[in-house]
Amino acid sequence: MGTLDGKVVLITGTAGGQGRVAAQVFTREGARVVGADIQAAANAETVELVRRAGGEMTGIAPVDLTDPGQARRLVERAAGVYGGLDVVYNNAAFQRFGPVPDFSVEDWRTTVTAELDIPFFVSKFAWPHLVARGGGVIINVASMAGMIGGHVPPMVGHSAANAGVIGMTRQMALEGAPVGIRAVAISPGPILTPASDRDLGDDRAARDAITAKTLLKRFGRPEEVVELAAFLASDRASYITGANYPVDGGATAW
Ligand SMILES: NC(=O)c1ccc[n+]([C@@H]2O[C@H](COP(=O)([O-])OP(=O)(O)OC[C@H]3O[C@@H](n4cnc5c(N)ncnc54)[C@H](O)[C@@H]3O)[C@@H](O)[C@H]2O)c1
Repeated sequence: MGTLDGKVVLITGTAGGQGRVAAQVFTREGARVVGADIQAAANAETVELVRRAGGEMTGIAPVDLTDPGQARRLVERAAGVYGGLDVVYNNAAFQRFGPVPDFSVEDWRTTVTAELDIPFFVSKFAWPHLVARGGGVIINVASMAGMIGGHVPPMVGHSAANAGVIGMTRQMALEGAPVGIRAVAISPGPILTPASDRDLGDDRAARDAITAKTLLKRFGRPEEVVELAAFLASDRASYITGANYPVDGGATAW
């Protein structure tokens, strides 16, 4: 028996990183997963990995979720695959970094669109589907950057957008409670994904600068975020809504 038996979960950004691991962990727990991404080939690899492990997953890609029309069509298709939606896991995002005076208006708009519009669009269009099943769960992936500032790298757009995700989650929880929807945010610290590991290469100084703010002095692993998400998505977390959970090795504790 899995903790997510019978649940239909839409996960965005399943082509790699935390989203791929989320598809693996949620299906291991018995969920049927619809996974969407802008990267079609890598998303298909995730579907293959899940199915080989005996999980039930359908991929929908490519889809650019910064476009509200594509987000709406994705949600409609996703709800059709297994006959409804119980959980929306807003994981997909991308961002740009740079100091305030050098951060262009385009950098700003791109980052806010990718980090704040995507989870709003997907949640907004999924809302009636969750209500139709008697409620459900919205999990928004924010960032510790939404809770504290940071200069490695400078992150004005990332900070602002993720503070927005945390605030948006509280409001979704407030409006969702009467219709049975719980909304929670998870704020990861530095998480090492295959892509970021490749990008950092053997740059020890950069790795140390990034992990210095954590108490544990290391990167987190995707599964350390995703296992919490699986718990929050389950009925075991039935009294949890409106909360934001740092998963950051203690970085926001001091
Ligand atoms: N890795 C970290 O250190 C870290 C820290 C804090 C927060 N986060 C957050 O965690 C989440 C997952 O990040 P990750 O580290 O796995 O990164 P990632 O880049 O590996 O994963 C993001 C996924 O989203 C997809 N995506 C991006 N833009 C899209 C779009 N317009 N439409 C559809 N899909 C799109 C990407 O293709 C990718 O597969 C993100 O919300 C990120 O902001 C990550």
